This record gives sequence, C-alpha cells and structure tokens, in this order.
Amino acid sequence: MHLRALYLAAFLAACSATAALPVLQGSAAAQSAPVADPIALSDAMTRLQLQHAKLWFAGKLGNWALASYEVEKIDLTLEAAGKLLAAEGSIRSQVTRTKEQLEAVRQAVRLKNLSVFTKAYSSLTNECNGCHRANGYASIAIQLPAIPPVPNQLFVDQVTEGKALARASCGTCHVIADVAKESSASRPPAPDFPEIVVRSSFSADAIRQLLSSGHRRIGPAQAMANPRLTENQIEAVVAYLETLRVDRSR
Ligand code: HEC
Ligand code: HEC
Repeated sequence: MHLRALYLAAFLAACSATAALPVLQGSAAAQSAPVADPIALSDAMTRLQLQHAKLWFAGKLGNWALASYEVEKIDLTLEAAGKLLAAEGSIRSQVTRTKEQLEAVRQAVRLKNLSVFTKAYSSLTNECNGCHRANGYASIAIQLPAIPPVPNQLFVDQVTEGKALARASCGTCHVIADVAKESSASRPPAPDFPEIVVRSSFSADAIRQLLSSGHRRIGPAQAMANPRLTENQIEAVVAYLETLRVDRSR
C-alpha cells in the first residue's frame, strides 16, 4: 500500500514534469508563431550554418573573393529564412539586426582586413544566437567554426597563390600577366602566358602533364627546365592560368 502510494506520487511528479516542458516550449513557439513551412526553415538554417562556416575559413585564409560570395549567399538565405518565420515585427527586427552585422562583415571583406573581419564575424555569430534565444531555441548555439565544414573544398585563395607561384617559378622566362610591364630584353624567348592561354591547344590537363612530366627538360623543343612543383602547386598554377584565360576571353 505504502509502496503503491509512493509509485503514484512518483508517477504524478513525472507527469507534471513532462507537462511543464510543453508549456515552456509552447511559450517559445508562441513567440516564433506559426512557421508556414518548418522543413524549409530548418533547411534554410542548415544552409546558413554551412555558409557561416565557409565564410569563416574563406576570410581567415584571405580568400576574399570566396568570402564575398558567401556573404551574398548568407544575405539571400537570411532573407528567405526571415520570410519563412512569422512576419512578426520582432522577428523582422532580428533579421534586420543580423543583416546589419552582415553588412559590417561585407565591409571588412571589401577592406580585406582580417582583424576587422574577425570582429564583425563574431558579432554576426552573436546575432545568430540572439535570434535563437529570443525565439526559444537557446539550445541552438553557433560558435566560431573549429574545423573546415567540408573536406572537399579549398578555402585558400588558389588563384592568388598560383599567380605568386607563377611569378616566382615561371616569371624568369615567361611573361605572367602583363606583356607591357613584364617584357624585358634579358628574358629568354619563352611564349607569354597571356598568349599561351588563348591557344587552342591550351588545356588544364596539358599544363598538368607538362608540369608533372618526369623529364628534366620539358616543352616542345625541350627548352624549359622542369620547375619541379608539388601537386598542389601545379593545381594552383593551373587555376591561375585558367583564370587568366577566362579574363582574356571576356
Ligand atoms: C531571425 C531569427 C534567426 C536568425 C537571425 C538566425 N536563426 Fe537560426 N534558427 C532560427 C529559428 C527560429 C530556428 C529553429 C527553426 C525550427 O527548427 O523551427 C533556427 C535554427 C537554426 C539551426 C538548426 C537547424 C536544424 O535543422 O538543425 C541552425 C544550425 C541555425 N539556426 C543556424 C543559424 C546561423 C548560423 C545563423 C546566423 C548566420 C542563424 N541561424 C540566424 C532563427 C534564426
Ligand atoms: C628557364 C625558363 C623557363 C621557365 C622557368 C619556365 N618555362 Fe615554360 N617555357 C620555356 C620556354 C623557352 C618555352 C618554349 C618552348 C618551346 O616552344 O620550344 C616554354 C613553354 C611553356 C609552355 C608552352 C608549352 C607548349 O606546349 O607550347 C607552357 C604551358 C609553359 N612553358 C609553362 C610554364 C610554367 C607554368 C612554368 C612555371 C611553373 C614555366 N613554364 C617555367 C621556358 C621556361
């Protein structure tokens, strides 16, 4: 009997505990009001999470073109997520505040300034969490990404690296980018890169082949010493040459 009463009390206590939870969540849900499409909102937020992480690595590694790309994607995703959340005044103002912080990040990216970027990025992250807390999702806490979000994307600025590499290891013989500025009488007769990249024979694979050739001297007339680049360096040079070609054919 006594035991049964205890069980009953425990049961009742458990009931009221679980009953309290929906009340808590309910008040949170009441704030974020009806979400027309909860799956779409969750998808948008998950996308935002990925773009937020990519933005960090792009900025940290000085890949300002990629950082700028991610800023614009975040802007679009935020706008879409804002529409999915109830069109309530308080949520609108949270979206606006987050966009203001995003604007600060955009400025930092324009300035290519890492310390300004780091500060603005932290404030942006605080706005993510501020909105989560205001809407009853304090448990969704975003932080500075510790590791790159995907293993199959390069966050360094490959093209800029490739250009620097080309200057250092090809520039003694080839004109790298600007025929008017780089031509000099002391240079051996090697074809200019801006000319090479528009040849019909030009392809990324041909360059890879040429640069990874095991021969000491490479090139059609065996005129070019093998620059002995690593695979990553070859890819960077290829990336630079391909960008040069796109620029030339515009
Ligand atoms: C305007 C308010 C608001 C802002 C700003 C906001 N979020 Fe959210 N976020 C929410 C809400 C509401 C949810 C819960 C959505 C749901 O599941 O119903 C959420 C959920 C999430 C989730 C969990 C998604 C899932 O399905 O697991 C992640 C991750 C997330 N947000 C990331 C971010 C990041 C990163 C930022 C900033 C760049 C951000 N959010 C900015 C309102 C916001
Ligand atoms: C020591 C001078 C020298 C260096 C350094 C050098 N090249 Fe060359 N390269 C040449 C010469 C000379 C030719 C022309 C060969 C010919 O047409 O017979 C050539 C030709 C080429 C060609 C054209 C090949 C073809 O099929 O027509 C490419 C592409 C090329 N070089 C890329 C590079 C790259 C990339 C680097 C740096 C990683 C580099 N070269 C470094 C001298 C050099």
